[in-house]
Amino acid sequence: MLSKIDTKKFHTLIEINYLLNSDYKDINSLLSKIMESATQLAEAEASSLLMMDKEKKELYFEVALGEKGGEVKKFTVKMGEGIAGWVAQNNKSLIVNDVANDKRHLSNIGEKINFQTKTIMTVPMREKGECIGVLQVINKKNDSQGMSRGFTQEDLEWLEIFANQATLAICNAKNMEASQREIKELQGEITKSQYRTLIAKSPCILEKLEIIDMVAKTDSSVLLLGESGVGKEIFAEQIHLRSARKDAPFVRVNCAALPEGLLESELFGHVKGAFTSAITHRQGRFELADGGTIFLDEIGDLPFNLQAKILRVIQERRFEKLGSDITITVNVRIIAATNKDIEELVQKGEFRQDLYYRLNVFPVYIPPLRQRPEDILELAQFFLNGFMKETKKHFEGFSQDAIDGLLSYSWPGNIRELQNCIERACVIGKNNQITAEDIFFNSQIGYNKTSNEPADKDFDLKAAINVFKANYIRQALEDKNWNQTETAKALAIQRTYLSRLVKELKINNP
Ligand SMILES: Nc1ncnc2c1ncn2[C@@H]1O[C@H](COP(=O)(O)OP(=O)(O)OP(=O)(O)O)[C@@H](O)[C@H]1O
Ligand SMILES: [Mg+2]
Repeated sequence: MLSKIDTKKFHTLIEINYLLNSDYKDINSLLSKIMESATQLAEAEASSLLMMDKEKKELYFEVALGEKGGEVKKFTVKMGEGIAGWVAQNNKSLIVNDVANDKRHLSNIGEKINFQTKTIMTVPMREKGECIGVLQVINKKNDSQGMSRGFTQEDLEWLEIFANQATLAICNAKNMEASQREIKELQGEITKSQYRTLIAKSPCILEKLEIIDMVAKTDSSVLLLGESGVGKEIFAEQIHLRSARKDAPFVRVNCAALPEGLLESELFGHVKGAFTSAITHRQGRFELADGGTIFLDEIGDLPFNLQAKILRVIQERRFEKLGSDITITVNVRIIAATNKDIEELVQKGEFRQDLYYRLNVFPVYIPPLRQRPEDILELAQFFLNGFMKETKKHFEGFSQDAIDGLLSYSWPGNIRELQNCIERACVIGKNNQITAEDIFFNSQIGYNKTSNEPADKDFDLKAAINVFKANYIRQALEDKNWNQTETAKALAIQRTYLSRLVKELKINNP
């Protein structure tokens, strides 16, 4: 152990420990600082830190200080070669105070750079006991009387402490880098799951994409128009992703999903006590979207009173939380969407004209699927691939009769209906291809969603169950010649229940 604590050395250690805890960003300057201290405290002329390249089985100079430091960095040292190589291979510290007579010394580097090593002290850097590199200090300076000296056991013990610190710094930097990589990957996953893939083959959608590519670069408000399920939200995502705001939040608000009071606090936030149930402070969606994009879906359903407030945010980018008089300023891009005839709402006095003009800076109309048949099969295959993964089933695409069916249908529920149809087909399908028998359109299963209805999240499951029920009951009815009493018996249900199901599921005797 160290015989006595030298206060200068002790303070240097404290200083390096402080840097270890604070300066992760620049590992190289930290290692240089450690080596500078080691050189100074050992009263040496030069020093270097060599790291091990495990694959190449050699050491390379990470830090080299002293008058020839810059030149020496060009060289590498094989494992077992020279004093550094010997220390790395044996994982043992070493003092050589008579280098000229030590067989382990390799003079070629010194000769090339014209630097003579007289005394050298080398210690391993160990991570979990394994040598990952070495630290060495070279040529102990003469004492105050001009007498030459060698490195001492105490010098060695100090150098070992520095080696531990350097190892710690390197391990910290490695861990930090690994964590940052992991965070990036996870962020990538989140981004992946937050945004969906947009499929486009038809000329009219490709043209719309070109338009949104241009508008994305600006901060203009965009109003997305089109029937239900045409892809307004997925287009809104694309505008955000193609804009300079892409790394900032994309915040979605469905203006039809909440009653007026709740929607207001959802949009603008509230302070504690703003209303009875406001037991904590809450940030609103506008605040959360700061720097990014807010997507106001179903804007046609925005309550009249809130329209004035939204207008102000659009005009001034300012608002107050509920219950607060502090004005908050935000930088948000606004994208709104509706499947309603908004001009008609304006004429009827249900939608403020000034807000309409503000939102309508850049209207983009997304055509219904029936006007872009080129997209149908492309989308169908895309959805099938997704559902095959989810259900762990495999289909070799669609049979010709299924393709004919998909292409001849009018898709009143647009892409959402196509997506649901393919999901059901994937669940029902038993053959190696999806056939026409697996394909049920909403109109066939009694699900006539009008284009003005908001999205129904339960639809997928309910519809799939209804398809099963309807098919099963139809089969049972056919078996019993459409005799409901007999069929109810066979199905072990009440006759009245069966007749209700027949009505509800629109099961008709062909
Ligand atoms: N071009 C497309 N490529 C891939 N998927 C699409 C495309 N267009 C729409 N979809 C999918 O179809 C579904 C409906 O799209 P989206 O929610 O964007 O429509 P919408 O116009 O907002 O409908 P609504 O008016 O009913 O809210 C979503 O699941 C979406 O991912
Ligand atoms: Mg939508």
